[in-house]
Amino acid sequence: MRHFLTLQDFTKEEILEIIDISLDIKKNLKSKIYKKELENQTLAMIFEKSSTRTRVSFETGMSQLGGHALFLSNRDIHLGRGEPIKDTARVISSMCDMVMIRTFEQSMIEEFAKFSKVPVINGLTDSFHPVQLLADYMTLVEYESSEDIVCAYIGDGNNMTHSWMILAAKLGFELRIATPKGYEVDENILQVALLLAKESGAVIKTMHDPCEAVKGASVVTTDTWTSMGKEEEKEDRINIFKGFMVNDKMMLLAKKDAKLLHCLPAYRGLEVSEKTFEEHSKIIFDEAENRLHAQKGLMVWLDKQR
Ligand code: CP
Ligand code: NVA
Repeated sequence: MRHFLTLQDFTKEEILEIIDISLDIKKNLKSKIYKKELENQTLAMIFEKSSTRTRVSFETGMSQLGGHALFLSNRDIHLGRGEPIKDTARVISSMCDMVMIRTFEQSMIEEFAKFSKVPVINGLTDSFHPVQLLADYMTLVEYESSEDIVCAYIGDGNNMTHSWMILAAKLGFELRIATPKGYEVDENILQVALLLAKESGAVIKTMHDPCEAVKGASVVTTDTWTSMGKEEEKEDRINIFKGFMVNDKMMLLAKKDAKLLHCLPAYRGLEVSEKTFEEHSKIIFDEAENRLHAQKGLMVWLDKQR
């Protein structure tokens, strides 16, 4: 049995296999072919943070696969009142077939997985957002932009940045990360990524100049400056991150036809300008839709591993 807690635990071949399954599932859905590959299965979804895409995609995906999804907010279950993670894990995994968790600490999902009898999927933690990266990479494959990637990540060194680092390190592409001083990526995760990059030939660079990062990039990506849980820092961050907005001027430095990705929700006038966002909205909303297909692919793949 496998869990999906971080891309670090997956080989390049496994990541590409999940993407292939996902592309196939998407093709079938567009032809109205519904394969009930998870019939009678239940996915428990524990949310300790807000979500639009993750909830809708997992719930819809599960129903399209012939299964059922349970939405469990920590305001409603005993986990939020202090029931130990290990007890919650043993109970839920005795009744459900898979569990998806969105929470704060990565250690919470690791603890849950340790006591779970069924696969656990990371639906976002403070450290990583690996399901988003499956959708992002799938989108680049669809747009024929997955060869010789030079990706520029502009903004906050956060869960998205960390997952981009691990993806680059596994698949062997170039990633340049530009953050303001004091908002760099986690040093331990960077060291892990750099170590993995030695094996794959990936190039991972961190810097503070967004223009330097974007120069000649084939993919540009950004994310909110204020992640969930950091709301109190919002005003300070808006001042500190000035100069890190992805706009037309910045995109002009990238390769002609460079793709802009954004995991959403997007805050126009902050990490991305309204105009640049709308110019690239086709690929960004395809990326959002691919959450559905990529997570169906992931669940089908995980189910086959038991
Ligand atoms: N990108 C993403 O995970 O969106 P939600 O927070 O809406 O789930
Ligand atoms: N970095 C963002 C991603 C939202 C999908 C957050 O954690 O809030």
